[in-house]
Amino acid sequence: MYRTVTCGELRLADVAKTVTLAGWVQRIRKMGGMTFIDLRDRYGITQLAFNQGTEAFEQANNLGREYVLQVVGKVIERQSKNPQLPTGEIEIEVNQLTILNPALTPPFTIEDESDGGDDLRMKYRYLDLRRSCVRKNLELRHKMAFEVRRYLDEQGFLEVETPVLVNSTPEGARDFVVPSRMNPGMFYALPQSPQTLKQLLMVSGFDRYFQIVKCFRDEDLRADRQPEFTQIDCEMSFVEQEDILQMFEGMSRHLFKAILNIDLPALPRMTWADAMKYYGSDKPDTRFGMTFVELQDIFHAAEAQKAEEERFSVFANAAYIGGICAKGCATYTRKQLDALTEFVRRPQIGAKGLVYARVEEEGTVKSSVDKFYTQDVLQSIAKAMQAEKGDLILILSGDDAMRTRKQLSELRLEMGRQLGLRDPKKFSCLWVIDFPMYEWSDEENRLMAMHHPFTSPKPEDIPLLDTNPAAVRANAYDMVINGVEVGGGSIRIHDAKLQEKIFEILGFTPEQAQAKFGFLMNAFKYGAPPHGGLAYGLDRFVSLFAGLDSIRDCIAFPKNNQGKDVMLGAPGPVDQIQLDELQIDIRKQSQTQL
Ligand code: AMO
Repeated sequence: MYRTVTCGELRLADVAKTVTLAGWVQRIRKMGGMTFIDLRDRYGITQLAFNQGTEAFEQANNLGREYVLQVVGKVIERQSKNPQLPTGEIEIEVNQLTILNPALTPPFTIEDESDGGDDLRMKYRYLDLRRSCVRKNLELRHKMAFEVRRYLDEQGFLEVETPVLVNSTPEGARDFVVPSRMNPGMFYALPQSPQTLKQLLMVSGFDRYFQIVKCFRDEDLRADRQPEFTQIDCEMSFVEQEDILQMFEGMSRHLFKAILNIDLPALPRMTWADAMKYYGSDKPDTRFGMTFVELQDIFHAAEAQKAEEERFSVFANAAYIGGICAKGCATYTRKQLDALTEFVRRPQIGAKGLVYARVEEEGTVKSSVDKFYTQDVLQSIAKAMQAEKGDLILILSGDDAMRTRKQLSELRLEMGRQLGLRDPKKFSCLWVIDFPMYEWSDEENRLMAMHHPFTSPKPEDIPLLDTNPAAVRANAYDMVINGVEVGGGSIRIHDAKLQEKIFEILGFTPEQAQAKFGFLMNAFKYGAPPHGGLAYGLDRFVSLFAGLDSIRDCIAFPKNNQGKDVMLGAPGPVDQIQLDELQIDIRKQSQTQL
Protein backbone atom coordinates (compact mmCIF):
# COMPACT_ATOMS: atom_id res chain seq x y z
CA MET A 1 0.00 0.00 0.00
CA TYR A 2 1.35 3.42 -0.96
CA ARG A 3 -0.35 5.06 1.97
CA THR A 4 -2.46 4.18 4.97
CA VAL A 5 -3.62 7.74 5.61
CA THR A 6 -3.83 11.01 3.70
CA CYS A 7 -2.01 14.23 4.61
CA GLY A 8 -5.20 15.83 5.91
CA GLU A 9 -6.58 13.41 8.44
CA LEU A 10 -4.29 12.79 11.41
CA ARG A 11 -5.24 14.31 14.79
CA LEU A 12 -4.13 14.07 18.44
CA ALA A 13 -6.22 10.92 18.86
CA ASP A 14 -3.93 9.19 16.35
CA VAL A 15 -0.78 9.70 18.43
CA ALA A 16 1.40 6.57 18.66
CA LYS A 17 0.02 5.03 15.46
CA THR A 18 2.46 3.97 12.78
CA VAL A 19 1.35 5.35 9.44
CA THR A 20 2.41 5.52 5.81
CA LEU A 21 1.88 8.77 3.92
CA ALA A 22 2.57 9.83 0.35
CA GLY A 23 2.62 13.29 -1.16
CA TRP A 24 4.62 16.28 -2.39
CA VAL A 25 7.24 18.28 -0.52
CA GLN A 26 5.70 21.67 0.14
CA ARG A 27 8.45 23.14 2.32
CA ILE A 28 11.69 22.04 3.99
CA ARG A 29 12.97 23.65 7.19
CA LYS A 30 16.40 22.70 8.52
CA MET A 31 16.82 23.54 12.20
CA GLY A 32 20.20 22.19 13.25
CA GLY A 33 19.59 18.74 14.65
CA MET A 34 16.14 18.47 13.13
CA THR A 35 14.63 18.84 9.69
CA PHE A 36 10.94 19.44 9.10
CA ILE A 37 9.08 18.83 5.88
CA ASP A 38 5.51 19.83 5.08
CA LEU A 39 4.10 16.97 3.04
CA ARG A 40 1.10 17.90 0.88
CA ASP A 41 -1.60 15.99 -0.94
CA ARG A 42 -5.14 16.80 -2.05
CA TYR A 43 -6.42 16.49 1.50
CA GLY A 44 -4.01 18.71 3.40
CA ILE A 45 -0.56 19.09 4.85
CA THR A 46 1.17 16.99 7.48
CA GLN A 47 4.44 17.90 9.14
CA LEU A 48 7.21 15.33 8.97
CA ALA A 49 10.02 15.45 11.54
CA PHE A 50 13.47 13.96 10.94
CA ASN A 51 16.00 13.50 13.75
CA GLN A 52 19.71 13.89 13.25
CA GLY A 53 21.54 10.61 13.19
CA THR A 54 18.90 8.69 11.26
CA GLU A 55 19.22 7.67 7.63
CA ALA A 56 15.95 9.43 6.85
CA PHE A 57 17.43 12.70 8.21
CA GLU A 58 20.32 12.51 5.72
CA GLN A 59 17.86 11.81 2.89
CA ALA A 60 15.53 14.61 3.95
CA ASN A 61 18.35 17.14 3.79
CA ASN A 62 18.88 16.34 0.12
CA LEU A 63 15.32 16.76 -1.11
CA GLY A 64 13.86 19.58 -3.13
CA ARG A 65 10.44 21.20 -3.31
CA GLU A 66 7.77 19.10 -5.01
CA TYR A 67 9.64 15.80 -4.72
CA VAL A 68 7.15 12.97 -4.42
CA LEU A 69 7.71 10.98 -1.23
CA GLN A 70 6.47 8.03 0.69
CA VAL A 71 7.22 8.00 4.41
CA VAL A 72 6.61 5.59 7.23
CA GLY A 73 6.68 6.90 10.78
CA LYS A 74 4.98 7.34 14.11
CA VAL A 75 2.39 9.99 14.91
CA ILE A 76 3.60 12.14 17.82
CA GLU A 77 2.24 15.22 19.55
CA ARG A 78 3.88 18.43 18.33
CA GLN A 79 5.74 20.66 20.74
CA SER A 80 4.85 23.88 18.97
CA LYS A 81 1.37 23.41 17.59
CA ASN A 82 -0.01 25.15 14.49
CA PRO A 83 -3.65 26.12 15.03
CA GLN A 84 -3.92 27.15 11.35
CA LEU A 85 -3.64 23.54 10.18
CA PRO A 86 -6.22 20.82 10.93
CA THR A 87 -3.28 18.44 11.43
CA GLY A 88 -1.36 21.11 13.37
CA GLU A 89 -1.29 19.27 16.69
CA ILE A 90 0.69 16.29 15.46
CA GLU A 91 3.71 15.43 13.36
CA ILE A 92 5.24 12.25 11.98
CA GLU A 93 8.53 11.03 13.37
CA VAL A 94 9.82 9.52 10.16
CA ASN A 95 11.91 6.38 10.19
CA GLN A 96 11.66 5.39 6.55
CA LEU A 97 11.63 7.65 3.51
CA THR A 98 11.30 6.63 -0.13
CA ILE A 99 11.66 9.09 -2.97
CA LEU A 100 8.91 8.08 -5.39
CA ASN A 101 10.00 10.73 -7.87
CA PRO A 102 12.34 13.72 -7.80
CA ALA A 103 11.10 17.02 -9.21
CA LEU A 104 12.52 20.03 -10.97
CA THR A 105 12.19 23.23 -8.98
CA PRO A 106 8.77 24.56 -9.96
CA PRO A 107 8.75 27.87 -11.86
CA PHE A 108 6.60 29.48 -9.14
CA THR A 109 5.79 28.79 -5.51
CA ILE A 110 2.98 26.33 -4.90
CA GLU A 111 1.35 28.50 -2.24
CA ASP A 112 -1.98 30.32 -2.05
CA GLU A 113 -0.07 33.57 -2.51
CA SER A 114 2.12 32.45 -5.40
CA ASP A 115 4.95 34.47 -6.90
CA GLY A 116 3.96 33.28 -10.39
CA GLY A 117 2.22 35.67 -12.79
CA ASP A 118 -0.90 34.69 -14.72
CA ASP A 119 0.85 33.61 -17.90
CA LEU A 120 3.38 31.45 -16.11
CA ARG A 121 0.73 29.76 -14.00
CA MET A 122 -1.36 29.05 -17.11
CA LYS A 123 1.62 27.54 -18.91
CA TYR A 124 2.17 25.21 -15.96
CA ARG A 125 -1.48 24.85 -15.08
CA TYR A 126 -0.91 21.31 -13.72
CA LEU A 127 1.33 22.90 -11.06
CA ASP A 128 -1.09 25.76 -10.48
CA LEU A 129 -3.77 23.17 -9.80
CA ARG A 130 -1.66 21.85 -6.92
CA ARG A 131 -2.32 25.09 -5.04
CA SER A 132 -5.06 24.49 -2.53
CA CYS A 133 -6.92 27.71 -3.38
CA VAL A 134 -7.29 26.56 -7.00
CA ARG A 135 -8.03 22.95 -6.12
CA LYS A 136 -10.80 24.07 -3.75
CA ASN A 137 -12.61 25.74 -6.64
CA LEU A 138 -12.64 22.49 -8.58
CA GLU A 139 -13.86 20.61 -5.53
CA LEU A 140 -16.67 23.13 -5.21
CA ARG A 141 -17.47 22.70 -8.90
CA HIS A 142 -17.72 18.95 -8.45
CA LYS A 143 -20.02 19.32 -5.45
CA MET A 144 -22.27 21.77 -7.24
CA ALA A 145 -22.57 19.58 -10.33
CA PHE A 146 -23.30 16.64 -8.05
CA GLU A 147 -26.03 18.50 -6.15
CA VAL A 148 -27.55 19.69 -9.44
CA ARG A 149 -27.77 16.07 -10.58
CA ARG A 150 -29.23 15.01 -7.25
CA TYR A 151 -31.93 17.71 -7.34
CA LEU A 152 -32.88 17.23 -10.97
CA ASP A 153 -32.88 13.45 -10.65
CA GLU A 154 -35.23 13.73 -7.67
CA GLN A 155 -37.51 15.92 -9.78
CA GLY A 156 -37.66 13.28 -12.51
CA PHE A 157 -35.28 14.85 -15.01
CA LEU A 158 -33.33 12.59 -17.37
CA GLU A 159 -29.78 13.45 -18.37
CA VAL A 160 -29.50 12.96 -22.11
CA GLU A 161 -26.34 13.58 -24.11
CA THR A 162 -26.61 15.50 -27.34
CA PRO A 163 -23.97 15.56 -30.09
CA VAL A 164 -21.03 17.92 -30.23
CA LEU A 165 -20.67 17.82 -34.00
CA VAL A 166 -23.81 19.61 -35.11
CA ASN A 167 -24.93 22.32 -37.45
CA SER A 168 -24.94 25.98 -36.58
CA THR A 169 -27.56 27.19 -34.04
CA PRO A 170 -28.05 30.91 -33.76
CA GLU A 171 -27.42 32.06 -30.18
CA GLY A 172 -25.93 35.34 -31.28
CA ALA A 173 -22.25 34.36 -31.21
CA ARG A 174 -19.98 33.02 -33.93
CA ASP A 175 -19.65 29.27 -34.32
CA PHE A 176 -16.53 27.20 -34.03
CA VAL A 177 -16.51 25.04 -37.13
CA VAL A 178 -14.97 21.66 -37.82
CA PRO A 179 -14.19 20.56 -41.36
CA SER A 180 -15.56 17.20 -42.47
CA ARG A 181 -13.04 14.92 -44.22
CA MET A 182 -15.75 12.66 -45.58
CA ASN A 183 -17.73 15.58 -46.93
CA PRO A 184 -15.16 17.90 -48.49
CA GLY A 185 -16.02 21.56 -48.25
CA MET A 186 -18.60 20.86 -45.54
CA PHE A 187 -18.36 21.82 -41.90
CA TYR A 188 -19.86 20.84 -38.61
CA ALA A 189 -20.42 23.52 -36.02
CA LEU A 190 -19.81 22.97 -32.33
CA PRO A 191 -23.00 23.70 -30.38
CA GLN A 192 -23.38 27.16 -28.88
CA SER A 193 -25.96 25.34 -26.75
CA PRO A 194 -28.09 22.23 -27.29
CA GLN A 195 -31.13 24.48 -27.75
CA THR A 196 -32.76 22.90 -30.81
CA LEU A 197 -31.83 19.37 -29.75
CA LYS A 198 -33.45 19.71 -26.35
CA GLN A 199 -36.57 21.03 -28.03
CA LEU A 200 -36.56 17.95 -30.29
CA LEU A 201 -36.28 15.80 -27.16
CA MET A 202 -39.50 17.44 -25.97
CA VAL A 203 -41.15 16.49 -29.25
CA SER A 204 -39.89 12.95 -28.53
CA GLY A 205 -41.74 13.02 -25.22
CA PHE A 206 -38.80 13.22 -22.83
CA ASP A 207 -40.72 15.69 -20.74
CA ARG A 208 -37.95 16.66 -18.30
CA TYR A 209 -34.45 16.80 -19.74
CA PHE A 210 -31.18 18.10 -18.43
CA GLN A 211 -27.56 17.90 -19.39
CA ILE A 212 -24.37 19.30 -17.89
CA VAL A 213 -22.84 20.11 -21.20
CA LYS A 214 -19.98 21.90 -22.92
CA CYS A 215 -21.00 24.78 -25.17
CA PHE A 216 -18.79 26.65 -27.61
CA ARG A 217 -18.98 30.28 -28.66
CA ASP A 218 -16.44 32.18 -30.66
CA GLU A 219 -16.94 35.56 -29.00
CA ASP A 220 -14.71 38.17 -27.41
CA LEU A 221 -13.62 37.01 -24.00
CA ARG A 222 -14.29 38.71 -20.69
CA ALA A 223 -13.97 37.75 -17.06
CA ASP A 224 -17.27 35.88 -17.21
CA ARG A 225 -16.88 34.41 -20.70
CA GLN A 226 -14.87 31.51 -22.03
CA PRO A 227 -14.98 30.17 -25.59
CA GLU A 228 -15.90 26.76 -24.18
CA PHE A 229 -17.98 26.75 -21.04
CA THR A 230 -20.44 24.49 -19.31
CA GLN A 231 -24.18 24.82 -19.12
CA ILE A 232 -26.67 23.12 -16.86
CA ASP A 233 -29.13 22.86 -19.70
CA CYS A 234 -32.76 22.04 -18.89
CA GLU A 235 -36.07 21.71 -20.68
CA MET A 236 -39.58 20.75 -19.58
CA SER A 237 -42.84 19.95 -21.38
CA PHE A 238 -46.39 20.93 -20.44
CA VAL A 239 -45.25 23.92 -18.47
CA GLU A 240 -45.83 27.61 -18.23
CA GLN A 241 -43.27 30.21 -17.22
CA GLU A 242 -44.39 29.97 -13.59
CA ASP A 243 -43.64 26.22 -13.46
CA ILE A 244 -40.12 26.80 -14.71
CA LEU A 245 -39.43 29.67 -12.33
CA GLN A 246 -40.63 27.54 -9.40
CA MET A 247 -38.64 24.47 -10.41
CA PHE A 248 -35.36 26.32 -10.85
CA GLU A 249 -35.81 28.61 -7.92
CA GLY A 250 -36.03 25.28 -6.08
CA MET A 251 -32.79 24.13 -7.63
CA SER A 252 -30.99 27.32 -6.63
CA ARG A 253 -32.41 27.06 -3.13
CA HIS A 254 -31.15 23.48 -2.93
CA LEU A 255 -27.66 24.51 -4.05
CA PHE A 256 -27.44 27.44 -1.62
CA LYS A 257 -28.52 25.19 1.25
CA ALA A 258 -26.47 22.13 0.37
CA ILE A 259 -23.27 23.97 -0.48
CA LEU A 260 -23.28 27.22 1.50
CA ASN A 261 -25.88 26.41 4.17
CA ILE A 262 -27.77 29.55 3.19
CA ASP A 263 -31.57 29.64 3.23
CA LEU A 264 -32.40 31.52 0.07
CA PRO A 265 -35.52 33.69 0.43
CA ALA A 266 -38.15 33.65 -2.34
CA LEU A 267 -36.63 35.29 -5.39
CA PRO A 268 -38.01 38.74 -6.20
CA ARG A 269 -39.05 39.29 -9.80
CA MET A 270 -38.23 42.43 -11.69
CA THR A 271 -39.39 43.26 -15.18
CA TRP A 272 -36.70 43.98 -17.72
CA ALA A 273 -38.18 47.49 -18.10
CA ASP A 274 -37.77 48.18 -14.36
CA ALA A 275 -34.27 46.70 -14.29
CA MET A 276 -33.26 49.11 -17.04
CA LYS A 277 -35.07 52.06 -15.45
CA TYR A 278 -33.73 51.64 -11.93
CA TYR A 279 -30.39 49.93 -12.49
CA GLY A 280 -29.55 50.56 -16.15
CA SER A 281 -28.80 46.88 -16.55
CA ASP A 282 -30.63 43.66 -17.34
CA LYS A 283 -28.52 41.99 -14.66
CA PRO A 284 -28.78 44.38 -11.73
CA ASP A 285 -26.53 43.93 -8.72
CA THR A 286 -29.18 44.18 -6.02
CA ARG A 287 -26.83 43.75 -3.09
CA PHE A 288 -27.13 47.51 -2.72
CA GLY A 289 -29.65 50.25 -3.53
CA MET A 290 -28.40 53.46 -5.13
CA THR A 291 -31.18 53.12 -7.71
CA PHE A 292 -31.56 55.63 -10.52
CA VAL A 293 -33.78 58.68 -10.26
CA GLU A 294 -34.78 60.38 -13.50
CA LEU A 295 -34.21 64.12 -13.30
CA GLN A 296 -34.97 65.36 -16.81
CA ASP A 297 -38.39 66.74 -15.84
CA ILE A 298 -36.96 68.94 -13.06
CA PHE A 299 -34.03 70.15 -15.14
CA HIS A 300 -36.09 70.75 -18.27
CA ALA A 301 -38.66 72.71 -16.26
CA ALA A 302 -35.84 74.83 -14.83
CA GLU A 303 -34.37 75.39 -18.27
CA ALA A 304 -37.76 76.48 -19.61
CA GLN A 305 -37.74 79.35 -17.10
CA LYS A 306 -34.44 80.71 -18.38
CA ALA A 307 -33.37 82.87 -21.26
CA GLU A 308 -31.75 81.01 -24.14
CA GLU A 309 -28.20 82.23 -23.38
CA GLU A 310 -28.38 81.21 -19.71
CA ARG A 311 -29.21 77.59 -20.43
CA PHE A 312 -26.96 74.70 -19.56
CA SER A 313 -27.03 73.22 -23.03
CA VAL A 314 -25.86 69.76 -21.92
CA PHE A 315 -28.98 69.24 -19.79
CA ALA A 316 -31.31 71.42 -21.82
CA ASN A 317 -30.86 69.15 -24.84
CA ALA A 318 -30.56 65.79 -23.07
CA ALA A 319 -33.27 63.20 -23.64
CA TYR A 320 -32.34 61.52 -20.38
CA ILE A 321 -30.86 62.82 -17.14
CA GLY A 322 -30.37 60.33 -14.33
CA GLY A 323 -28.80 60.45 -10.92
CA ILE A 324 -27.64 58.18 -8.14
CA CYS A 325 -27.20 59.13 -4.52
CA ALA A 326 -24.03 57.95 -2.77
CA LYS A 327 -24.75 58.02 0.96
CA GLY A 328 -22.20 59.85 3.08
CA CYS A 329 -19.95 60.68 0.12
CA ALA A 330 -20.20 64.49 0.28
CA THR A 331 -16.68 64.32 1.70
CA TYR A 332 -15.35 63.10 -1.66
CA THR A 333 -12.41 65.31 -2.58
CA ARG A 334 -11.95 67.10 -5.86
CA LYS A 335 -9.39 64.47 -6.76
CA GLN A 336 -11.82 61.62 -6.12
CA LEU A 337 -14.52 63.37 -8.17
CA ASP A 338 -12.08 63.97 -11.01
CA ALA A 339 -11.20 60.28 -10.93
CA LEU A 340 -14.92 59.39 -11.18
CA THR A 341 -15.26 61.77 -14.13
CA GLU A 342 -12.29 60.09 -15.79
CA PHE A 343 -13.91 56.72 -15.05
CA VAL A 344 -17.15 57.54 -16.89
CA ARG A 345 -15.23 59.12 -19.78
CA ARG A 346 -13.19 55.99 -20.47
CA PRO A 347 -13.94 54.80 -24.00
CA GLN A 348 -15.50 51.56 -22.67
CA ILE A 349 -18.12 53.67 -20.87
CA GLY A 350 -18.21 56.69 -23.13
CA ALA A 351 -19.98 59.38 -21.06
CA LYS A 352 -19.05 62.96 -21.91
CA GLY A 353 -18.87 64.19 -18.35
CA LEU A 354 -20.20 63.89 -14.84
CA VAL A 355 -22.21 66.40 -12.83
CA TYR A 356 -22.16 66.18 -9.06
CA ALA A 357 -23.92 67.83 -6.16
CA ARG A 358 -23.11 67.63 -2.46
CA VAL A 359 -25.64 68.12 0.32
CA GLU A 360 -23.63 70.10 2.84
CA GLU A 361 -23.94 70.11 6.62
CA GLU A 362 -26.10 73.26 6.60
CA GLY A 363 -28.43 71.61 4.11
CA THR A 364 -27.35 73.69 1.12
CA VAL A 365 -26.62 71.88 -2.10
CA LYS A 366 -23.33 72.70 -3.82
CA SER A 367 -22.88 71.39 -7.30
CA SER A 368 -20.59 71.50 -10.28
CA VAL A 369 -23.38 73.28 -12.18
CA ASP A 370 -24.14 75.94 -9.53
CA LYS A 371 -23.88 78.76 -12.01
CA PHE A 372 -26.72 77.35 -14.11
CA TYR A 373 -29.26 76.53 -11.41
CA THR A 374 -30.78 78.27 -8.42
CA GLN A 375 -30.55 76.74 -4.95
CA ASP A 376 -34.30 76.00 -5.28
CA VAL A 377 -33.73 73.80 -8.32
CA LEU A 378 -30.82 72.05 -6.63
CA GLN A 379 -32.96 71.49 -3.54
CA SER A 380 -35.67 69.84 -5.66
CA ILE A 381 -33.01 67.60 -7.15
CA ALA A 382 -31.83 66.62 -3.68
CA LYS A 383 -35.43 65.97 -2.65
CA ALA A 384 -36.12 63.82 -5.71
CA MET A 385 -32.97 61.88 -4.97
CA GLN A 386 -33.91 61.54 -1.28
CA ALA A 387 -30.44 62.89 -0.57
CA GLU A 388 -29.66 63.93 2.99
CA LYS A 389 -26.92 65.97 4.59
CA GLY A 390 -23.56 64.44 3.80
CA ASP A 391 -24.71 62.69 0.60
CA LEU A 392 -23.26 63.00 -2.86
CA ILE A 393 -25.43 63.05 -5.99
CA LEU A 394 -23.87 61.92 -9.26
CA ILE A 395 -25.65 62.77 -12.50
CA LEU A 396 -25.19 61.67 -16.11
CA SER A 397 -27.13 62.86 -19.12
CA GLY A 398 -27.35 61.93 -22.78
CA ASP A 399 -29.35 61.85 -25.97
CA ASP A 400 -29.89 58.13 -25.91
CA ALA A 401 -31.68 57.04 -22.73
CA MET A 402 -30.58 53.40 -22.95
CA ARG A 403 -26.95 54.28 -23.55
CA THR A 404 -26.92 56.81 -20.70
CA ARG A 405 -28.54 54.33 -18.33
CA LYS A 406 -25.83 51.81 -19.12
CA GLN A 407 -23.18 54.43 -18.38
CA LEU A 408 -24.86 55.31 -15.10
CA SER A 409 -25.01 51.60 -14.31
CA GLU A 410 -21.22 51.36 -14.62
CA LEU A 411 -20.85 54.36 -12.32
CA ARG A 412 -23.25 52.82 -9.82
CA LEU A 413 -21.27 49.57 -9.79
CA GLU A 414 -18.02 51.50 -9.35
CA MET A 415 -19.48 53.45 -6.41
CA GLY A 416 -20.76 50.19 -4.94
CA ARG A 417 -17.26 48.79 -5.22
CA GLN A 418 -15.62 51.87 -3.69
CA LEU A 419 -18.07 51.83 -0.78
CA GLY A 420 -17.59 48.11 -0.13
CA LEU A 421 -21.23 47.34 -0.97
CA ARG A 422 -20.39 44.41 -3.25
CA ASP A 423 -19.37 41.87 -0.66
CA PRO A 424 -18.77 38.53 -2.45
CA LYS A 425 -20.00 36.67 0.64
CA LYS A 426 -23.45 38.29 0.43
CA PHE A 427 -25.89 37.01 -2.16
CA SER A 428 -28.77 38.80 -3.78
CA CYS A 429 -30.71 36.73 -6.32
CA LEU A 430 -33.65 37.66 -8.49
CA TRP A 431 -35.49 36.83 -11.68
CA VAL A 432 -35.52 39.39 -14.43
CA ILE A 433 -38.64 38.72 -16.52
CA ASP A 434 -40.56 40.11 -19.51
CA PHE A 435 -37.56 40.68 -21.75
CA PRO A 436 -38.29 42.27 -25.11
CA MET A 437 -38.50 39.75 -27.97
CA TYR A 438 -36.21 41.78 -30.18
CA GLU A 439 -33.43 44.27 -30.03
CA TRP A 440 -32.24 46.44 -32.85
CA SER A 441 -28.80 45.64 -34.22
CA ASP A 442 -26.96 48.59 -35.76
CA GLU A 443 -24.37 46.17 -37.10
CA GLU A 444 -26.91 43.99 -38.93
CA ASN A 445 -29.40 46.81 -39.51
CA ARG A 446 -32.30 44.61 -38.47
CA LEU A 447 -34.18 43.31 -35.44
CA MET A 448 -32.43 40.44 -33.71
CA ALA A 449 -33.89 37.96 -31.23
CA MET A 450 -32.88 39.15 -27.78
CA HIS A 451 -32.82 35.61 -26.35
CA HIS A 452 -33.07 33.31 -29.36
CA PRO A 453 -35.49 32.83 -32.25
CA PHE A 454 -37.34 29.95 -30.54
CA THR A 455 -38.60 32.14 -27.70
CA SER A 456 -42.32 32.59 -27.46
CA PRO A 457 -43.84 36.06 -27.37
CA LYS A 458 -46.18 36.87 -24.50
CA PRO A 459 -49.61 35.76 -25.81
CA GLU A 460 -51.11 39.20 -25.17
CA ASP A 461 -48.36 40.81 -27.28
CA ILE A 462 -48.76 38.51 -30.31
CA PRO A 463 -50.99 41.05 -32.17
CA LEU A 464 -48.10 43.55 -31.95
CA LEU A 465 -45.93 41.26 -34.09
CA ASP A 466 -47.60 42.73 -37.18
CA THR A 467 -47.76 46.34 -36.07
CA ASN A 468 -44.85 47.05 -33.71
CA PRO A 469 -42.56 44.04 -33.29
CA ALA A 470 -40.01 46.06 -31.32
CA ALA A 471 -42.59 46.45 -28.53
CA VAL A 472 -43.33 42.72 -28.21
CA ARG A 473 -42.33 41.18 -24.89
CA ALA A 474 -41.13 37.60 -24.62
CA ASN A 475 -41.85 34.86 -22.15
CA ALA A 476 -38.17 34.97 -21.29
CA TYR A 477 -36.40 35.18 -17.96
CA ASP A 478 -32.92 35.38 -16.50
CA MET A 479 -31.72 34.44 -13.05
CA VAL A 480 -29.37 37.11 -11.76
CA ILE A 481 -27.11 36.80 -8.73
CA ASN A 482 -24.97 39.72 -7.56
CA GLY A 483 -25.09 41.37 -10.96
CA VAL A 484 -24.19 38.21 -12.85
CA GLU A 485 -26.55 36.50 -15.30
CA VAL A 486 -26.22 32.92 -14.05
CA GLY A 487 -28.99 31.52 -16.14
CA GLY A 488 -31.60 32.32 -18.71
CA GLY A 489 -34.35 30.72 -20.69
CA SER A 490 -37.79 31.03 -22.13
CA ILE A 491 -41.06 29.41 -23.01
CA ARG A 492 -40.66 28.20 -26.58
CA ILE A 493 -42.77 28.47 -29.63
CA HIS A 494 -44.30 25.05 -30.35
CA ASP A 495 -46.43 26.11 -33.26
CA ALA A 496 -44.80 25.77 -36.68
CA LYS A 497 -46.80 28.70 -38.11
CA LEU A 498 -45.80 31.12 -35.35
CA GLN A 499 -42.20 29.96 -35.62
CA GLU A 500 -42.25 30.70 -39.35
CA LYS A 501 -43.58 34.18 -38.67
CA ILE A 502 -40.83 34.88 -36.14
CA PHE A 503 -38.18 33.82 -38.63
CA GLU A 504 -39.78 36.14 -41.16
CA ILE A 505 -39.59 39.12 -38.75
CA LEU A 506 -35.95 38.23 -38.14
CA GLY A 507 -35.35 38.67 -41.85
CA PHE A 508 -35.17 35.04 -43.00
CA THR A 509 -36.86 34.22 -46.30
CA PRO A 510 -39.10 31.10 -46.07
CA GLU A 511 -36.43 29.21 -48.04
CA GLN A 512 -33.62 30.29 -45.69
CA ALA A 513 -35.72 29.42 -42.65
CA GLN A 514 -36.54 26.03 -44.14
CA ALA A 515 -32.91 25.35 -45.03
CA LYS A 516 -31.65 26.27 -41.56
CA PHE A 517 -34.48 25.24 -39.27
CA GLY A 518 -36.62 22.96 -41.41
CA PHE A 519 -35.79 20.05 -39.11
CA LEU A 520 -37.32 21.87 -36.14
CA MET A 521 -40.36 23.31 -37.91
CA ASN A 522 -41.12 19.93 -39.45
CA ALA A 523 -40.79 18.27 -36.05
CA PHE A 524 -43.33 20.73 -34.67
CA LYS A 525 -45.83 19.37 -37.18
CA TYR A 526 -45.67 15.93 -35.54
CA GLY A 527 -47.19 16.88 -32.21
CA ALA A 528 -44.92 19.22 -30.28
CA PRO A 529 -45.95 19.70 -26.65
CA PRO A 530 -45.89 23.18 -25.13
CA HIS A 531 -42.44 23.44 -23.61
CA GLY A 532 -39.83 25.72 -22.13
CA GLY A 533 -36.61 25.69 -20.21
CA LEU A 534 -33.46 27.45 -19.29
CA ALA A 535 -29.74 27.00 -18.99
CA TYR A 536 -27.43 28.02 -16.20
CA GLY A 537 -23.79 28.84 -16.76
CA LEU A 538 -22.14 26.36 -14.40
CA ASP A 539 -18.82 28.22 -14.48
CA ARG A 540 -20.52 31.45 -13.45
CA PHE A 541 -22.54 29.75 -10.73
CA VAL A 542 -19.42 28.15 -9.26
CA SER A 543 -17.37 31.33 -9.44
CA LEU A 544 -20.12 33.21 -7.59
CA PHE A 545 -20.22 30.61 -4.83
CA ALA A 546 -16.42 30.71 -4.64
CA GLY A 547 -16.36 34.54 -4.61
CA LEU A 548 -14.09 34.66 -7.68
CA ASP A 549 -13.65 37.61 -10.01
CA SER A 550 -13.23 35.43 -13.08
CA ILE A 551 -14.73 32.12 -14.19
CA ARG A 552 -11.26 31.03 -15.30
CA ASP A 553 -10.36 30.05 -11.77
CA CYS A 554 -13.04 27.41 -11.52
CA ILE A 555 -12.15 25.74 -14.83
CA ALA A 556 -9.37 23.13 -14.74
CA PHE A 557 -7.78 24.11 -18.05
CA PRO A 558 -9.16 27.48 -19.16
CA LYS A 559 -8.26 29.57 -22.19
CA ASN A 560 -6.59 32.95 -21.82
CA ASN A 561 -7.97 36.26 -23.09
CA GLN A 562 -6.77 35.51 -26.61
CA GLY A 563 -8.69 32.24 -26.53
CA LYS A 564 -5.45 30.27 -26.26
CA ASP A 565 -4.45 27.34 -24.12
CA VAL A 566 -0.80 28.25 -23.66
CA MET A 567 -0.05 24.95 -21.97
CA LEU A 568 -1.28 22.82 -24.88
CA GLY A 569 -0.33 25.37 -27.51
CA ALA A 570 -3.89 25.42 -28.81
CA PRO A 571 -4.94 26.60 -31.28
CA GLY A 572 -1.95 25.51 -33.33
CA PRO A 573 -1.04 24.62 -36.89
CA VAL A 574 -1.85 21.16 -38.27
CA ASP A 575 0.18 19.02 -40.66
CA GLN A 576 -0.14 19.60 -44.37
CA ILE A 577 -1.27 15.97 -44.67
CA GLN A 578 -4.26 16.68 -42.44
CA LEU A 579 -5.09 19.78 -44.46
CA ASP A 580 -4.78 17.85 -47.71
CA GLU A 581 -7.13 15.18 -46.42
CA LEU A 582 -9.62 17.88 -45.56
CA GLN A 583 -9.02 19.55 -48.90
CA ILE A 584 -8.24 22.81 -47.18
CA ASP A 585 -5.61 24.91 -48.85
CA ILE A 586 -4.56 27.62 -46.44
CA ARG A 587 -1.69 28.70 -48.70
CA LYS A 588 -4.16 29.54 -51.43
CA GLN A 589 -6.36 31.36 -48.92
CA SER A 590 -3.56 33.46 -47.51
CA GLN A 591 -2.44 34.30 -51.04
CA THR A 592 -5.94 35.48 -51.89
CA GLN A 593 -5.88 37.62 -48.76
CA LEU A 594 -2.64 39.21 -49.94
P1 AMO B 1 -27.80 31.80 -22.93
O1 AMO B 1 -27.12 32.16 -24.19
O2 AMO B 1 -28.42 32.90 -22.13
O3 AMO B 1 -29.01 30.81 -23.21
O4 AMO B 1 -26.80 30.99 -22.03
C1 AMO B 1 -27.20 30.44 -20.79
C2 AMO B 1 -26.19 30.75 -19.72
O5 AMO B 1 -24.90 30.30 -20.10
C3 AMO B 1 -23.90 31.14 -19.54
N1 AMO B 1 -23.00 31.61 -20.62
C4 AMO B 1 -21.66 31.62 -20.55
N2 AMO B 1 -20.82 31.28 -19.55
C5 AMO B 1 -19.50 31.38 -19.78
N3 AMO B 1 -18.95 31.78 -20.95
C6 AMO B 1 -19.75 32.12 -21.99
N4 AMO B 1 -19.20 32.49 -23.14
C7 AMO B 1 -21.18 32.06 -21.81
N5 AMO B 1 -22.25 32.32 -22.59
C8 AMO B 1 -23.34 32.03 -21.86
C9 AMO B 1 -24.61 32.28 -18.86
C10 AMO B 1 -25.99 32.23 -19.47
O6 AMO B 1 -26.97 32.73 -18.59
N6 AMO B 1 -30.10 27.90 -25.07
C11 AMO B 1 -30.28 29.04 -24.18
C12 AMO B 1 -30.90 28.64 -22.86
C13 AMO B 1 -32.36 28.37 -22.94
O7 AMO B 1 -33.10 29.17 -23.54
O8 AMO B 1 -32.78 27.35 -22.40
C14 AMO B 1 -28.91 29.66 -23.93
O9 AMO B 1 -27.87 29.15 -24.27
O10 AMO B 1 -24.67 32.03 -17.47
